[in-house]
Amino acid sequence: MPVKQSVYKNTSQKEYDITDEKREEYRRISMESRQAKLAADDGLHEVIHEINTPLLNPNDLMPQLPLNDIKALSLFSGGGGLDLGFDRAGYTHKASYELIPICKETLQENRPHWNVFGGPEYGDVTKIDWSKYKGKIDLIHGGPPCQPFSIAGQQKGIDDERNMWGEFNRAVNTIKPKAFVAENVLGLLNPKFKDFVQKYILDELTDYQIVKFEMHASDYGVPQIRKRVFFVGFKTKKALSKFVIPEPTHSSEHLGSKKVDSTISLFGARKEKTMGVREALGLVNINFDNLAPTIRSAFTGKRNTTSVLNSSAGQKSWGDMELWPNGVQANREKASQFPAKHDHFRMSVQDVGLIQGFPENWKFSGAVYQVLGQIGNSVSPPVAYQVAKNVANALKA
Ligand SMILES: C[S@@+](CC[C@H](N)C(=O)[O-])C[C@H]1O[C@@H](n2cnc3c(N)ncnc32)[C@H](O)[C@@H]1O
Repeated sequence: MPVKQSVYKNTSQKEYDITDEKREEYRRISMESRQAKLAADDGLHEVIHEINTPLLNPNDLMPQLPLNDIKALSLFSGGGGLDLGFDRAGYTHKASYELIPICKETLQENRPHWNVFGGPEYGDVTKIDWSKYKGKIDLIHGGPPCQPFSIAGQQKGIDDERNMWGEFNRAVNTIKPKAFVAENVLGLLNPKFKDFVQKYILDELTDYQIVKFEMHASDYGVPQIRKRVFFVGFKTKKALSKFVIPEPTHSSEHLGSKKVDSTISLFGARKEKTMGVREALGLVNINFDNLAPTIRSAFTGKRNTTSVLNSSAGQKSWGDMELWPNGVQANREKASQFPAKHDHFRMSVQDVGLIQGFPENWKFSGAVYQVLGQIGNSVSPPVAYQVAKNVANALKA
């Protein structure tokens, strides 16, 4: 029986449990990785894979729409998944608020004209008096931190100091926009959180007609298993009645071992096929392709990591596709020169961004683990885009 130990992380002094077995596994992976990297740095290996040219362009999944005059405020903006989706759907960005400074850099680098408030001094939503935005904002969007509800966390909900729903509600109730969009992990739909949802979301936002629904990223062309819940609120019943929960545009049932062609929906509408990861990244055909397992968030894990692995089941799925989910590199050149175990394909941060639905021209600031943190924390932009598009349609007079 593995022994559990409590370990404290220097930065936050948060306690977490790790078994001796897991610790040994991390140590071994890290040592093998270090040795392979040293060998690669010393030029001991041939270049083992060509630099890949991806076939998927996530911008094709979210064609730029003309400006729609809806003014949006972004809370908990992270590396900009929701912000980018709303931007592509034609919203006018008014401001973003985010606690982590490196996220501000990402947003500002990509959109120098945006008003981005970042870091503990300017970006902490708990310190903002929202009344200055009254009458100036039509929509608020945000993904309050999801660790309190994530199955990867301890599901402490309201007792977790990272629960930021109260702050989201405070902004909405002060500014009173026409609509809001809040995103979270699927854990929030767990019956365990039913009372939480009623008491701390629905009962707090009584001026709004609220609809909640689940979305799967692969239903919108993103090559990853990623499920999220959305809460969309409208000030008027009329807007709610015009809102349509986004219909899947893509199907992924031809992938993996299922191989069912379900590209014709029940209603006869044609759905596109979601690319598998190998195809999306432009890798050689090995007669097998699949969706990526859910990419983990490196910020919320036990340690700073350059792995995107979320579970041991995930390890097998990556392996079946001959992809290596650990030791992600800063760019494709580096990845191509750093052989991975079994000669599997080693990914770069650009590859991981693409698997999350970020186009290559969205540049992330920071070290590899920080970039992976921003990607893993984000809403897949094409998913955000679909919600943004339908909310804009509902708000049209
Ligand atoms: C789930 S992520 C949001 C990701 C983002 N919606 C996206 O699509 O890329 C939650 C974010 O909330 C930020 N956050 C946590 N507490 C905050 C606070 N008090 N003020 C501002 N941002 C905060 C975290 O740093 C994290 O980036």
